Amino acid sequence: MSKNPLKSGEKVLFVISGVFALLGVIAYVALETIRISSDKPIFSQTTHWNFSEDGKLGSKLYREANCNACHRAMKSGTSMGLSLDGLGSKYSASHIEAFLRDPERFYNGPTLDHGDAPKEAAYAAKLPDESIRLIAIFLSELKADPGSSVAKVPPPGRSEFIDSMVRIWAPEDWKERFSDLRERPPAESTPAESAEGNAR
Ligand code: HEC
Repeated sequence: MSKNPLKSGEKVLFVISGVFALLGVIAYVALETIRISSDKPIFSQTTHWNFSEDGKLGSKLYREANCNACHRAMKSGTSMGLSLDGLGSKYSASHIEAFLRDPERFYNGPTLDHGDAPKEAAYAAKLPDESIRLIAIFLSELKADPGSSVAKVPPPGRSEFIDSMVRIWAPEDWKERFSDLRERPPAESTPAESAEGNAR
């Protein structure tokens, strides 16, 4: 060792990376201390679930089918893929079932992993009918608060921020091609809600 002492540049690099590592640890400990001791949650919870009996069966099948390899739901799974939290606030169970059985037709366009073999999630469409039905019920019970990033429904009431974003970014022809979700009568607000018949 003594024959091979660190060069001064190497020492400087060691000290700098040591300082960064130390700062990381301090920041982590500080954030965790605040999070644990604070009586208000510092990250607001915008997703929630309340499972029916079928939903619970579906949740078990979902885990067994290893969907978490590419998805995230209810705090488990991978963060690399699509999160399925709040999916039930976008689609009804029958919409999700239609996606799982025939994804390209449902999206009306090419898909990446779901679809025919050799796509990696091709097996999802080949699960037994009853499993697909129960998994779709489970996913349709993953709800999100209106206005959260995983909900299709905007926050209740008018938001000046959304109004100005629409004014600035929505191309003119969108105003003819699409209708504003917030101006539609409640009964047809989302496929999920109209399918369930609980208009907000
Ligand atoms: C190999 C990775 C992979 C696996 C495994 C996988 N998925 Fe997916 N999933 C995707 C990708 C990617 C998409 C986006 C659509 C596409 O391009 O295939 C998607 C989309 C979806 C969607 C539609 C979400 C939306 O917002 O439109 C649902 C529902 C879904 N997956 C459910 C499942 C279920 C249930 C399983 C297990 C049976 C599963 N996935 C397994 C990669 C995967």
